[in-house]
Amino acid sequence: MDLESAFRGQAQACASLGSPMYADLLGRVADALAVGGEEAEPFVRVLAGHEEAPGPAALALRLMGSVHRLVLERRAGGLGTWYPSVGGTYEPEGCWAAFAALVAEEPGAAREWLDRPPQTNEVGRAAALTAGLLEIGRHTPLPVHLVEIGSSGGLNLLADRFAYVDDQGRVHGDPDSPVRLDGAWTGPGPWTGPDAPWPVVAERRGTDVMPVEAATTAGRLTLTAYVWADMTGRLERLRGALQLAAETPTPVQEIGARALVAGIEPVPGAVTVLWHSVMWQYLDRAEQDDVVARTEELGAAATDEAPFAHLSLEPRRRAPGEDREFWLVLRLWPGGETRWLARSRGHGVPVDWQ
Ligand SMILES: C[S@@+](CC[C@H](N)C(=O)[O-])C[C@H]1O[C@@H](n2cnc3c(N)ncnc32)[C@H](O)[C@@H]1O
Repeated sequence: MDLESAFRGQAQACASLGSPMYADLLGRVADALAVGGEEAEPFVRVLAGHEEAPGPAALALRLMGSVHRLVLERRAGGLGTWYPSVGGTYEPEGCWAAFAALVAEEPGAAREWLDRPPQTNEVGRAAALTAGLLEIGRHTPLPVHLVEIGSSGGLNLLADRFAYVDDQGRVHGDPDSPVRLDGAWTGPGPWTGPDAPWPVVAERRGTDVMPVEAATTAGRLTLTAYVWADMTGRLERLRGALQLAAETPTPVQEIGARALVAGIEPVPGAVTVLWHSVMWQYLDRAEQDDVVARTEELGAAATDEAPFAHLSLEPRRRAPGEDREFWLVLRLWPGGETRWLARSRGHGVPVDWQ
């Protein structure tokens, strides 16, 4: 795919996912690349050498992350005036002029993060994962031994400490939490029962091939820079979770999915919950197969005293021909029936219980 189409495609994706600002900026970069000549020159220069790796669509997000990082570090001149993430007010013409000027005048700075893969940790996805934990709690009263694959900064390991507001306006979890997920849950989910006990997480283990240290300045900058700068709800959730992570560090171990699941053992007196969100697509087929095979083994070995659950929020097709959507899917052993519990948006909320 050529750069122009890649930037235009990413612009459309940003528009549909709720970022008019990134949609407009990336659309205008695509327009400049289409026109060529002087207009395109600063962008062609900044992107040079990165066109192919690892796919031009991701390059658009790398550029936006790299520039957002400069804004967050107050190294982007007047561009911050237009960036809501630092208190600015977005307006298309002014923002584009300042964005294009930065890329033209500070090409070295704008390129700084082009060789890094975007690293996000989407706090809104905790709404789906926690709903899954509540469902597990309806079947077993045991405390939770939580293991996450692809934790990024480990923020969702603190999901039980967030506040969730359902479609009736009721608040669940910690009402004083710095993370409040408004409109988190809709439909007849496990939070609706009068006696739904809140999950007790006895152990939390975060893992990732490329962990982000959320308790450090560098880690916080990384996780913030890749959030689209006009999506203030996402940024607010992230800031709340970073505050919690500073108070309760949840280290993320550097280990890949295959090696992690190979080493999981059932814990008597606890339900082991293996969960992951939006990371399955990064595993190659062989690693996916190994993780599935080990999950089946762990399920087969589960007992009522040491149950095992696999809970995932991943883009999937429920049936051939259906659209790919973000589905919360649970398998709980003994038993291991596959249950399609809920659908959510890519960034997590709202979760629509089926
Ligand atoms: C899109 S992020 C999602 C992070 C987090 N689960 C969330 O929902 O916010 C995907 C994560 O998967 C991690 N990842 C990619 N390949 C992996 C692998 N083979 N094993 C474990 N983690 C992996 C990446 O480093 C990244 O942190």
